[in-house]
Amino acid sequence: MKRSIQELSTCIGDVVTLEGWVYNKRESKALTFLILRDGSGICQCIISQNDVGEEIFANSSALGLESSVRLTGKVVADPRQSGGIELHVESVEIIHAVADYPISKKEHGIEFLMDKRHLWLRSRRQWAIMRVRNTIIYSIHNFFQKEGFVQMDAPIFTGNACEGTTDLFETDFYGQPAFLSQSGQLYGEAMAMAMGKIYTFGPTFRSEKSKTRRHLSEFWMIEPEMAFYDIFQNMDLMEDFVRFVIEAVLEKNSLELEILERDTEALKSATGTFIRLTYDEAVAIIKGEKDVQGLNTIDTLEKDLEERKTELVELEKDIEERSALISAGGMKKGKIAFQQNQIDKNKQRIKQVEEDLRNIPQWIESAKNFNYGADFGGSDETVLTRMFEVPVMVYDWPHEIKAFYLKRNPENPKFARGVDLLAPEGYGEVVGGGERETNEQWLKEKIIEHELPMSEFEWYLDLRRFGSVPHAGFGLGLERLVAWICKLSHVRETIPFPRMFGRLEP
Ligand code: 4AD
Ligand code: MG
Repeated sequence: MKRSIQELSTCIGDVVTLEGWVYNKRESKALTFLILRDGSGICQCIISQNDVGEEIFANSSALGLESSVRLTGKVVADPRQSGGIELHVESVEIIHAVADYPISKKEHGIEFLMDKRHLWLRSRRQWAIMRVRNTIIYSIHNFFQKEGFVQMDAPIFTGNACEGTTDLFETDFYGQPAFLSQSGQLYGEAMAMAMGKIYTFGPTFRSEKSKTRRHLSEFWMIEPEMAFYDIFQNMDLMEDFVRFVIEAVLEKNSLELEILERDTEALKSATGTFIRLTYDEAVAIIKGEKDVQGLNTIDTLEKDLEERKTELVELEKDIEERSALISAGGMKKGKIAFQQNQIDKNKQRIKQVEEDLRNIPQWIESAKNFNYGADFGGSDETVLTRMFEVPVMVYDWPHEIKAFYLKRNPENPKFARGVDLLAPEGYGEVVGGGERETNEQWLKEKIIEHELPMSEFEWYLDLRRFGSVPHAGFGLGLERLVAWICKLSHVRETIPFPRMFGRLEP
């Protein structure tokens, strides 16, 4: 009977057929231990010469990584194996024997792996990331559907700019210039007036020529838009939504998070009550003019810098001592491997510590010199968010630095009712949104101020002419959320085939 690896725990004692690829292999004289992956999981399969005969045994022990096979055998419980199960193979059918699979277990450079992305996706880490991404997508739909939202789609070809004109991808639409959508929001507003509460979930495009760890040229955005919502109801929804998604991943992806060595305690802590700060409060904290929970940002950074310096000395000393033990000789193989493993772990940690040692002084500088009125850069976000375990929502921004469509605070029109949700652990902005301007005149002034073509926005202004109501919404960048939940150092691994400045292939 054909089975997938994830089903095997219910088939102990049965003879089943597995179809998949050779993920890894170990041999002894009369046994081959084949680690099979079939997309649903991995399983150790034991092929014995006695059971399959000399020829098949020889052929299967010669299989290269990623050869495809069909294996039939008995499912046996073995608590030492991944999934608690192994397969005692009775017959082997080789579908495609591979020699020289280009990705080996040794370390490859990131550019090499990116060039081989079509194959790299098969590796265990990438598998885990894609499964977390899948849970996130599924739970996003779950959340909005249970809250009574209707999913509707915004067009990709657009005649207008939603998020400023500097990073538009221009394309030719039957001889007329068109842009690839930067955000579905403006259409979302129209759809919310028809349906009450909607969300869009589609690809969005930004031609940002920046090679940062959080910028893609093509990324997926979830954009709910709600009629009769103000900025505070918007923040309530944002918080419930992000918490729901994190909880879903914690519940469904413990194996994947373990593969990724994700500290789940930090993720659990992030589901507490989110922090809400006005721009003014956030700036005061960043600059160290206001303490949070008795702590000051600048002092904390300086203390962390000293701690990292001490840690570096200790790590280097530890490596030296372990290396000396190994080179002294006389140690058993297993012990050497253990020491080497600790050394490698220390080296990994040193990379992180050295990065902090480079970053922290810069953070201190930019925090101290932050200019009131400016937008937050990555380092400002980090300085602020590292003070909290939970996400921080910053709202009421100086209107000059925010998008044209945001409502001005009626009590203090210097501020626009935008809100950004900043993730902890250095991830920064993952959501941007706000309450929308409903005053047609103010909106027109903003369109002119932003040098946008009025004629392209006539339809949008209609929404303020016919049954205009207070409304709000936000956009969550899927890849940035995946990066944070998986704790990845770059968004390029969060999407199957990333498109970013300098990368169009594969
Ligand atoms: O803050 P942004 O630009 O907001 C909007 O587009 C609004 N129209 C959304 C709305 O209110 N409906 O983008 C929203 C989110 C960001 O917080 C970030 O997570 C993600 O989209 N994002 C990117 N992700 C990857 N690469 C990029 N270049 C991104 N630019 C924005
Ligand atoms: Mg933003």
